[in-house]
Amino acid sequence: MGCAGGWLLQAVCLLSTLLDYGAVRVTMRHSNLEVVQGDSVTLPCSFFTMSPLSRLNIIWTLAPFSNPDSPTQVIVFDHGQVIENPSLTGRVGFLGIPWSADIILNNTRISDAGTYRCMVSNPPETGDPGIGELALNVLAPPSLPLCLWDGVTDTGGSVALSCMVAEGVPTPEMRWDKLEPEEISLPINMDGDLSGSVQIVNISSQNSGLYRCSVTNLLGTQNCYVNLSIYSPPASSPGILQGVLLTLSMALVLLALLVLVLWLHRSGQKRKWTEGKEEECYNEIRYTPSLIKRSFV
Ligand SMILES: *[C@@H]1O[C@H](CO)[C@@H](O)[C@H](O)[C@H]1NC(C)=O
Ligand SMILES: *[C@@H]1O[C@H](CO)[C@@H](O)[C@H](O)[C@H]1NC(C)=O
Ligand SMILES: *[C@@H]1O[C@H](CO)[C@@H](O)[C@H](O)[C@H]1NC(C)=O
Repeated sequence: MGCAGGWLLQAVCLLSTLLDYGAVRVTMRHSNLEVVQGDSVTLPCSFFTMSPLSRLNIIWTLAPFSNPDSPTQVIVFDHGQVIENPSLTGRVGFLGIPWSADIILNNTRISDAGTYRCMVSNPPETGDPGIGELALNVLAPPSLPLCLWDGVTDTGGSVALSCMVAEGVPTPEMRWDKLEPEEISLPINMDGDLSGSVQIVNISSQNSGLYRCSVTNLLGTQNCYVNLSIYSPPASSPGILQGVLLTLSMALVLLALLVLVLWLHRSGQKRKWTEGKEEECYNEIRYTPSLIKRSFV
């Protein structure tokens, strides 16, 4: 059916179209809502219909942000009855049915976030149901992160400090700091949005101390800690000990040698002296007569 002509004719034409097709019109008073996890939120959905409400049908569905391709039913109003999704029983309810299709969601969870769709049909009005959509964001403070370390804590080794946070909307910012002796920020490698690590290479005792991972979003901050103790190289103390032992044993050997040399020297001298004395004796004995002779001569 074509609508042409003056404005009055067009208006009449539009009205008759509306009445003929009788489509329910749905308006969402918000297209985006935010709620803090645990709080309640009202999802608004208003509709306009020309027919009595005796056969009103309302279906709310949710396409979660985490899984947008598989929408689930949230709550249904049909033949005067309310049917809730069993997983939401006690948390979801209509406000002002049948005049309004608004619902309340209590004790919200992160998994409630997604695109909500309100579909209203009111037979005998014909045509497609009126549809409205809104996006619900559920904000949550960061959960307690998990701090881990891995690697070799001997001097010269390398250690990786890693931090993981399970939850937080908006996505928490992560940072690593060394707290002692003064607080310094460390360069962090993000492995996805919720996990970040710090590499410490060629470590020395200066890397010992307390390290903190902080995860922060607009709702809060959570911390976890790693207390790193760098061991003085176990290889170096035996080294020193060995050195000391070696020096000691070498000194002993030298001493022994010295004693030996001295003893040899002494005994050699003694023998020489004894031999010399014997010779002298022989000489004396040998030459004494001649000496005596000579002295007599
Ligand atoms: C939601 O919470 C409000 C206030 O605590 C309460 O009055 C209402 O009954 C609750 N609705 C559902 C569906 O649990
Ligand atoms: C490791 O650290 C020591 C002392 O700080 C330094 O002498 C050495 O060159 C470093 N080695 C490497 C591979 O960086
Ligand atoms: C870290 O560990 C060292 C040695 O184990 C200890 O003396 C120190 O008190 C610890 N620091 C903290 C903050 O736990």
